[in-house]
Amino acid sequence: MLEQVITSTKIIVTPHLSAEEMERLIFYCKGEEANPCVIMDNHPLDARDAMLNEWQKIRPVEILNNVFPNPKVEDIMDMANTLQDKKINVVIGIGGGSSLDSAKGVAVILSNGGDLEEYLGATPSKKIEQHNVQLILIPTTAGTGSEVTKVGVYTSRSGRKYTLGHPCMQADIAVLVTEYVKNLPPALTASTAFDALSHALETLWNRNATPLTDKIATESAVYLLKNMEAAYESSLSGKETGRTEMLQGACMAGIGFNITGTAAVHALSFIFSEEWDIPHGIACAFTLEDVFRLNLRDEKTRVRLVEVAKRLFDKENEDDLLSSLLNRIISLKKKFGLPFSFRDLNIELPETKIGELFNKSLEDPKMKNNSTEITSRIIFDLIKSKINKNIESCR
Ligand SMILES: NC(=O)c1ccc[n+]([C@@H]2O[C@H](COP(=O)([O-])OP(=O)(O)OC[C@H]3O[C@@H](n4cnc5c(N)ncnc54)[C@H](O)[C@@H]3O)[C@@H](O)[C@H]2O)c1
Ligand SMILES: [Fe+2]
Repeated sequence: MLEQVITSTKIIVTPHLSAEEMERLIFYCKGEEANPCVIMDNHPLDARDAMLNEWQKIRPVEILNNVFPNPKVEDIMDMANTLQDKKINVVIGIGGGSSLDSAKGVAVILSNGGDLEEYLGATPSKKIEQHNVQLILIPTTAGTGSEVTKVGVYTSRSGRKYTLGHPCMQADIAVLVTEYVKNLPPALTASTAFDALSHALETLWNRNATPLTDKIATESAVYLLKNMEAAYESSLSGKETGRTEMLQGACMAGIGFNITGTAAVHALSFIFSEEWDIPHGIACAFTLEDVFRLNLRDEKTRVRLVEVAKRLFDKENEDDLLSSLLNRIISLKKKFGLPFSFRDLNIELPETKIGELFNKSLEDPKMKNNSTEITSRIIFDLIKSKINKNIESCR
């Protein structure tokens, strides 16, 4: 797409971000005319809040904190409407994927007008054409990679979750501040790590994969798998080991899936978030081992996953390598307390409802990216296998 020339994200990695550095960043974006706003959620985050307090002493900064997990169109439109007459020309998202996606949504509306809902779905009534507002994204979770992707994920007024993608939604600047993720609690460390790992793996089992995306995704999958256990242990013991690595690994995975799109794990995850409000990373982790097994039917995917496994395990035989990789994923899920069954999620799902709920995922373009073709029969069997499944039986 030619719009790709509009922006390519400059990535900065830093242990700390000061108010003076924020001033310089917005000056690089819009010079003396810079008029920034910050989009975030209302949960306290000491390092971010201290920086914003200092920044407010240098200049008045509009701060909107109406972001909630799995962001809704109406909340984003409320924030965009508040900013409409304020001549904002730099939008800064600070937070997890929900805050970064909300910042993208606000920037879309400030640049293109209309209602965010009009841009969603297979046949949108409005198209994104402008990137007039500069976008700076600063993640505080190590998972979504949204700081380097051209997509945002939004829940429409009808309750359906949509991916909206356009090169104009790509950030101008991504700042990876390690201080912001050093206290990420265990449950969030676990779920967001699995989101990032799903991005890397979904880039590998993807019909749009290229030699370039294979390289990035292999590197990020290996890097994440080498560091996620240490990061989780750090979250339990208050240490910092593995934190910077996860922040950068998640960003790397984002660069990969920004080219290919995601696949079946993500298409199915949206149903869990729509129906039961399951956090995104947990919803991705839920079917990761099942979709892994399904995609072993595709020869190219097997070759790619063997490459990942070779970097982690000292084995020769391909089947041994693949089962070691799958077992590593399963044992990390267990260690992190992530769900394997509907019982683990405290959801009662009658078999008779599977088709009605999950066949919607077949219309999702992400499903068509999956390297093995997914049919309604496959979905039925996969979901059925997770009803009443016992955690010990997952191997
Ligand atoms: N745009 C993309 O490329 C992309 C990719 C994957 C997922 N997503 C979307 O991102 C959203 C999920 O984002 P997420 O998993 O990062 O979580 P999130 O932004 O939904 O936040 C979840 C919770 O974590 C808290 N939190 C964030 N940072 C914290 C920190 N450092 N310490 C303590 N608490 C913190 C938040 O306050 C919130 O309560 C979903 O809507 C998902 O669909 C977008
Ligand atoms: Fe994701």
